[in-house]
Amino acid sequence: MKGNGWDAGAPAVQLWGVSKTYHNGTTGLQDVTLEIPPGEFVFVTGHSGSGKSTLLKLLYGAEQPTVGRVLVGGQSVPDLDVGGLARLRRQLGVVFQDGKLIPQRTVAENAALALKTRGYSRGEIERRLAAALKLVGLTAKAHCFPEELSGGEQQRAGIARAVVHTPQLLLADEPTGNLDPDNAWQVVQIFKKLHALGATVVVSTHDEALVRAAKHRVVRLQAGAIAGPPSAFNVVSR
Ligand SMILES: Nc1ncnc2c1ncn2[C@@H]1O[C@H](COP(=O)(O)OP(=O)(O)O)[C@@H](O)[C@H]1O
Ligand SMILES: [Mg+2]
Repeated sequence: MKGNGWDAGAPAVQLWGVSKTYHNGTTGLQDVTLEIPPGEFVFVTGHSGSGKSTLLKLLYGAEQPTVGRVLVGGQSVPDLDVGGLARLRRQLGVVFQDGKLIPQRTVAENAALALKTRGYSRGEIERRLAAALKLVGLTAKAHCFPEELSGGEQQRAGIARAVVHTPQLLLADEPTGNLDPDNAWQVVQIFKKLHALGATVVVSTHDEALVRAAKHRVVRLQAGAIAGPPSAFNVVSR
């Protein structure tokens, strides 16, 4: 623990009996218990409306559970104050369906922003930018603006921004939802590389073919609940 509250020895993610009911009474999640050890690659899959985004939002603190415990890096996310949540988010990388890039900034500037707000030196920013752009195959497009990129390139730029600070945990919510199969597979390959470098990776997708091809642990949601037999309650023994 280097003063950031993240316990590297704890599971990256723990959910215990988590339910989420939205203000209008809609069920987002239903009694979900789940543990993800550090360094694991997990797909969260299920039809549209099954609760994938809700699950990820609970992990980065954008939504609060109605019932149950949500721990990320050993910290109870709903109990964090504003400063604690900001510190937690500095340990996370979050990727969305669209790259969510700032249109007026280049690829390099978009990615560097995450480092500037984290107080990195100029030299360290240069070093990290180069590595992240290389990882996603955008070195040659560093000075392009988002509108000059294809959809797949925009998404890879978003991934560079999400990983440039070497997050403990990468959360990607339908990162391939707008991509054709070739671009989707490229994105999965990038996540696999990150995983090989030691990151914990959680990717939501409704694309069952992609999940089958990627061969990682799968958590399947159905109407907000974990589908299938409750074998060991999805808790991996360590
Ligand atoms: N902010 C919200 N207010 C009310 N209901 C919501 C909200 N966000 C999601 N839901 C509902 O929660 C359920 C799960 O949604 P979501 O987590 O977005 O599923 P997925 O990402 O798998 O498509 C759906 O029925 C959805 O309509
Ligand atoms: Mg969703």
